[in-house]
Amino acid sequence: MNLQERDKKHLWHPLTQHKLHPNHLPIVKAKGCILTDEDGKEYIDGIASWYTCMYGHCNDYIIAKVKNQLDQLDQVVFSGFTHKPAVELSEELMKILPNNQQKIFFSDNGSTAVDIAIKMAFQFHFNQGKKRGKIIALEGGFHGDTFGAMSVSGLSVYNGPFEDFFIDVSRIAVPNEQNFEEVKHQFKLLLESENIAAFIFEPLVQGASAMFMYEAKYLDELIAIAHQHDVVTIADEVMTGFGKTGKNFASEYMQNKPDIMCLSKSLTGGIAPMALTTCAQKIYDAFYADEIGKAFFHGHTYSANPLACTAALASMELLQTDEIQSNIQQIIQSHTVFNERIKNHQKVASTRQLGIIFALDLNIQMERYGNLRDKLFNHFMDNGVFLRPLGNTIYILAPFVITDIQLEKVYKTIEEALEIV
Ligand SMILES: Cc1ncc(COP(=O)(O)O)c(C=O)c1O
Repeated sequence: MNLQERDKKHLWHPLTQHKLHPNHLPIVKAKGCILTDEDGKEYIDGIASWYTCMYGHCNDYIIAKVKNQLDQLDQVVFSGFTHKPAVELSEELMKILPNNQQKIFFSDNGSTAVDIAIKMAFQFHFNQGKKRGKIIALEGGFHGDTFGAMSVSGLSVYNGPFEDFFIDVSRIAVPNEQNFEEVKHQFKLLLESENIAAFIFEPLVQGASAMFMYEAKYLDELIAIAHQHDVVTIADEVMTGFGKTGKNFASEYMQNKPDIMCLSKSLTGGIAPMALTTCAQKIYDAFYADEIGKAFFHGHTYSANPLACTAALASMELLQTDEIQSNIQQIIQSHTVFNERIKNHQKVASTRQLGIIFALDLNIQMERYGNLRDKLFNHFMDNGVFLRPLGNTIYILAPFVITDIQLEKVYKTIEEALEIV
């Protein structure tokens, strides 16, 4: 039996209806922007494996650092102990995070980073003797698949079956020029009439909502209003973090900084699963007390795993190199040129771009997981490009190290796709 057949016996894949999609492509190797399957066929990873491997797969620099760390310290309990990779990572993060962020809490994935942020926000108020049990979120957001994260995400096939078990959430529309006054009014009403603990948002780009983008000035004002009401603001930068929006963090586009940030995905350059929930001093201070019960009793076994911390440190070093920064600018420029090339195509309804994130909507109605979407996906894969259309949206979020030739191939394959739909 080949790998694909053996896979079917025992494996249950994420986000998959196995009856409709029984086959999973065995990938045996990855280097730079290239994934290689069992038959030796190569694919350009146009979405950096869900926005993780931004410095290229199996990046030599990160691997060398992790190999070295493997000989020193593999894993140790992070409660009662500490270690150099975690301390150094915290110090390096302080240099690039918005400067109100002062404390770092470790976990393993984006969803838990969000759940931790929500728990921090609830307990922030609880520890001050205030009962605030509700959260405001943006419509259409996606924050992950654990219960807190599902609760604050927009309703979809992902979280629908669990709706009855959610924490209490009110959703407001994503602000834009037309609706802003109404959104602001509704936001203020909620803040004044309900016990709101926190306001959570994906700043500027809602990733799973087909890379939906909105303007910083509106979010900036909402954050300011939330702060006037002592509501904790949570920026979920799991997707947008670490350079993808053209700045290190999307939160840099706003004057008003979030109280809490959630980070994961490209944090470790795709080498190891790890996430961070960072916060402002005032959040931490609400937990700092003589009473043990005011502590944050949340912890994961692999918190601050030294190997993952080392991969994150190496990734952050790479992010700040001239080479990666100039690659980012180069990709931004290439996308801008491609946008001119494609935006008036008769099958294209709209295009958008922020930093290295580019998306186009087809003017064809498609189901998120329907046949036409599969046709597009198969077209990309047949042509050696890994892109995952989201409904009628095709987006590119390639590693920072993608070459001009590879990027051109991605563009061309998209243009050809427009001819088959
Ligand atoms: C903005 C955002 N938050 C949270 C998550 C969940 O992260 P994870 O899949 O690591 O649990 C995702 C995943 O796509 C995301 O895009």
